[in-house]
Amino acid sequence: SGLQAMAAAANATGGADEAPATEMTILYGSQSGTCESLSKDLRKYAKTKGFDAKISALDDFDPAQLAGIEHMTIIAATFGEGEPADNAVQFHAALMGPDAPALPASLNFAVCGLGDTSYAEFNQAARDLDARLAELGATRVLDMVACDVAYEDAYAAWKTGVFETGAFIAAAGASSAPEPEAAGPMFDKNRPFAGTLMKVDKLSGEGSAKTVNHIEISLAGGGEDLEYQVGDALGLWPTNCPLEVSELLAAGGFNGSEAVMLKDTPTSLRAALLNRLDLTTVTPSTLELWDIEKPDENSQIIDLIELGDLNLDPQAFVDGLRPLQPRLYSIASSPKAHPGEVHLTVGEVHYDLRTARKGVASTYLGQRLQPGGQVGVYIQKSAHFHLPADEATPVIMIGPGTGIAPFRAFLEERAAQQSKGENWLFFGDQHQKTDFLYRTELEDWASSGVLTKTSLAWSRDGAEKVYVQDLIRKDGAVFYDWLSKGAAIYVCGDATRMAADVDQTICEVVAEFGGMDADAAKQYVAGLGKAGRYQRDVY
Ligand code: 2AM
Repeated sequence: SGLQAMAAAANATGGADEAPATEMTILYGSQSGTCESLSKDLRKYAKTKGFDAKISALDDFDPAQLAGIEHMTIIAATFGEGEPADNAVQFHAALMGPDAPALPASLNFAVCGLGDTSYAEFNQAARDLDARLAELGATRVLDMVACDVAYEDAYAAWKTGVFETGAFIAAAGASSAPEPEAAGPMFDKNRPFAGTLMKVDKLSGEGSAKTVNHIEISLAGGGEDLEYQVGDALGLWPTNCPLEVSELLAAGGFNGSEAVMLKDTPTSLRAALLNRLDLTTVTPSTLELWDIEKPDENSQIIDLIELGDLNLDPQAFVDGLRPLQPRLYSIASSPKAHPGEVHLTVGEVHYDLRTARKGVASTYLGQRLQPGGQVGVYIQKSAHFHLPADEATPVIMIGPGTGIAPFRAFLEERAAQQSKGENWLFFGDQHQKTDFLYRTELEDWASSGVLTKTSLAWSRDGAEKVYVQDLIRKDGAVFYDWLSKGAAIYVCGDATRMAADVDQTICEVVAEFGGMDADAAKQYVAGLGKAGRYQRDVY
């Protein structure tokens, strides 16, 4: 096979006549790119253990090929109510379905799941695959590891574990020396760059139900590691609100100067709460460590503390909190238009210890951090959300609310490229008067011809709600015409309702104007996805 040929060639250049590396398959289901980058890390490590691994997204892999593989790992993320990532949906359905192929015991596999313990269906997508592979006859060489949002340690243990299993040790071929560490990026999740907040502009108007800010961060001095493409995301480390920290300290009967250990490093309790710990999320391990039952589904950390009788010492207190995590934002700028800068479109979520889970970073940026202040950032490359390689390809962008962010970047990029490709934007929000984000820029692009067509859906301006998908339907003939011309569709924003409804509407439009039945239309849309012509950045 091509793979063996590659391995042989690699060997030949190595000079020695060692046994070739053993083939291995690494599959991933990734939404924001984490599982994909872990797969790349795993491939490097596998090489040092004598395996030559081929990486693929689950949906780019045909389940019919499983029977011919002997060493496979899956790194799969779970979203929302236990759902697989966008690029794992079809594989998941095929494997879980009644027509899944029986698998030989010679298929040795191990699964690592990425999830969030604050969700009920924790790591369900990975658990499903893990259980089903065994049920179909494959050999599980290592128990599945279910990682929480701070996945690094659990993933590292799983990774080493895989290659310590009998099946992997016995089959290992020629190993190669690890690549030097310097090959990786200097700035990443755990080594962020100190960006400088340049400005915060309120995009939403007086009287809007939401506060949305346009935020500009300077990446000056960050060098190549902070280079990005439109479609990528910015990871940003927030800190907690000092007032909320004081409230929590008081509720627990602490003064903040107590000494605690965080990952073997001594620090004060106040510093730990300000910079390192998630102050709101209750996980199963919180309850176990503090030896309590969760009073109700919506309880936050502060509620548990205020219930009293916990008598936590400072260390037990911090041990029950999980690590603060960076937030990911779709980048709203093109590096061609703003070299050395990154812009974001951030909807402010009110931060309150009793209700918050997402408000930490947005209020930090919108209110607490002042221009000139520094913020820890890194680039999270997107595996699957990028403009077409051919600049002449027409592009349809659907991004209501803060879903506009990557499309401002796309339009800046297309303008900078002086691309000949047509651009059609669907945007919407509650009211035109207060929620028309980036109005001036969009109108300028419309008059200069960068924006070929703009469809605006204001959901609360008229008697009837108008959503972006209503406008897709209304313009269905033209929409299908653009697809026939080779247009690529991009969707950004709310995953549970908007993106699902938009997807449904696209299928209906394709059926109606393409003269297909529902199944054929679904196939057509799935084909767009496979061809990279239907890409989503939804959350
Ligand atoms: P609504 O809140 O008035 O119902 C950005 O948040 C915009 O997306 C708002 O105008 C919001 O409308 C709208 N929205 C809410 N649910 C939606 C859905 N299922 N499909 C498309 N847009 C939706």
